[in-house]
Amino acid sequence: MKIALLGYGKMGKIIEQIAIERKHEIVLKIELTNAADLTVENLKKADVAIDFSTPATVLDNIALCFEAKVPVIVGTTGWYGHLQRIKDECENNGRTLLYGSNFSVGVNVFFHVNKVLAKLMNNYPYYDVQVEEIHHTQKLDAPSGTAITIAEGIVDGLDTKNEWVNVLTAEGAPAEVVKPEQVLIESLRIENVPGTHTVVYDSEIDSIEFKHTAHNRNGFALGAVLAAEWVQGKKGFYSVKDMFNFSL
Ligand SMILES: NC(=O)c1ccc[n+]([C@@H]2O[C@H](COP(=O)([O-])OP(=O)(O)OC[C@H]3O[C@@H](n4cnc5c(N)ncnc54)[C@H](O)[C@@H]3O)[C@@H](O)[C@H]2O)c1
Repeated sequence: MKIALLGYGKMGKIIEQIAIERKHEIVLKIELTNAADLTVENLKKADVAIDFSTPATVLDNIALCFEAKVPVIVGTTGWYGHLQRIKDECENNGRTLLYGSNFSVGVNVFFHVNKVLAKLMNNYPYYDVQVEEIHHTQKLDAPSGTAITIAEGIVDGLDTKNEWVNVLTAEGAPAEVVKPEQVLIESLRIENVPGTHTVVYDSEIDSIEFKHTAHNRNGFALGAVLAAEWVQGKKGFYSVKDMFNFSL
């Protein structure tokens, strides 16, 4: 496959390595300094584009990919307010786009099992649930998009919960009190830690912890390359969930 990389920052560079390991060819690499090379003509040389750029550039990049009729994988976050418009454009004009806030295989397995677990826990109402997420201190937004998806999975599955609330807290701080129908997402920011998401079901008798720890960014990059392979020959608007399609 010939791949155009739109965004050649931390993620773009790892995607390049993994794509080459999987015998693909990078035909275009776009970053801030050579943004003028991002033309319809250059995009047409690729079988697929992968965008890990910035919220400020992603919508223009998608529009150019649609114009060039090149399928596009979008890992960039922060544009989901425009999702419906892009979906309509994609479907009305026969274009192809796959997006996801987290392309990691492990995290998508986690999302799925989290939903199954939430449904199961309806049988055991004496457990309460909370989500904890830990990231490095450079991550300024809280909660993480991944924690939001986890909490929404719990709200979908668990009859007693109808919304999530977030608290950015310090290590060792006393537990926050939330309403019974709320899922608390507790966000911690600590120097030099890997991103961690934990779902905790707690009762007076015991606790059940379900945890994902990212060791590096390779999982996101591999998932994006798998998505680029998966959309070949497909038309339409997809999310990363369609690619994983867990059936258990
Ligand atoms: N979906 C996922 O699994 C996942 C995982 C990690 C990061 N992300 C998201 O991916 C995005 C990029 O993350 P990063 O860590 O690589 O950021 P980064 O800041 O390291 O890289 C962004 C790159 O975009 C480039 N850029 C600027 N203007 C551009 C333009 N007009 N066209 C194309 N590229 C342009 C910058 O030069 C830079 O190289 C962020 O939105 C981040 O939240 C998503």
